[in-house]
Amino acid sequence: MKTLQEIVDKSRRIVFFGGAGVSTESGIPDFRSEDGLYRQKYTVSPETMLSHDWFFSHTEEFFKFYRDKMLPLWAEPNAAHKKLAELEKKGKLLAVVTQNIDGLHQKAGSKNVYELHGTVHKNTCLKCKKTYSAEQIAAMKGVPHCACGGLIKPDVVLYGEALDEDTVEGAVRAIAAADTLIVAGTSLTVYPAAGFVSFFRGNDLVLINRDPTPLDSQCDLVLHGKVGEILSEIKV
Ligand code: APR
Repeated sequence: MKTLQEIVDKSRRIVFFGGAGVSTESGIPDFRSEDGLYRQKYTVSPETMLSHDWFFSHTEEFFKFYRDKMLPLWAEPNAAHKKLAELEKKGKLLAVVTQNIDGLHQKAGSKNVYELHGTVHKNTCLKCKKTYSAEQIAAMKGVPHCACGGLIKPDVVLYGEALDEDTVEGAVRAIAAADTLIVAGTSLTVYPAAGFVSFFRGNDLVLINRDPTPLDSQCDLVLHGKVGEILSEIKV
């Protein structure tokens, strides 16, 4: 913790790269931990149910799973989200790059957030491009349709879909400009997201994760623990 505080004190351009483990302390299960979403029993794997093809071939089932598991609108930002927003406000953090789609970083006050896998908070009609909120999708029954009759699709990057180019470019630029990169709450198993860390050229690569990751050996500092608890101890 002392070393982490020293790194934060001397850093001027921190970038945070996070995953589902950043939201578990807000009550949202991650994917690959013991109690993760991908460990629960399903007839069809969640990776299939969250794929581009399944969205179009089994739209009814997609939205049942999606409303059931991917719309935790009750969740509040935890200490990790709040500390990152504080670091940005104090001019020490350039950006948050997240694989999460829950919008909790913005809800905590973060302004510069790159959502590599999109967000549940924007849903677009495939016909007329009108956008709808997550609350509107949650309130609709069955397959959500636009007033124009078009099918509404969540702006979430499904398996088999490409990441948004502007988001990718912004995230890579931020990571390449960082003097400190803090990677947290991610198993670093899903590409291309996990590959973004390789663009880091700064001084301190910090990993905060409950379980070991493939990146541990390359980091300057590794803290195995809860990212919310750990970041809450940082003085900005
Ligand atoms: N503090 C620190 N680490 C945590 C915490 C916590 N409170 N809770 C969980 N973790 C760690 C786990 O040990 C695990 O290594 O976070 C990691 C979560 O890994 P995953 O469940 O694989 O989530 P993530 O890495 O974000 O998955 C990447 O996979 O399914 C796709 O698109 C989905 O964005 C997701 C991507």
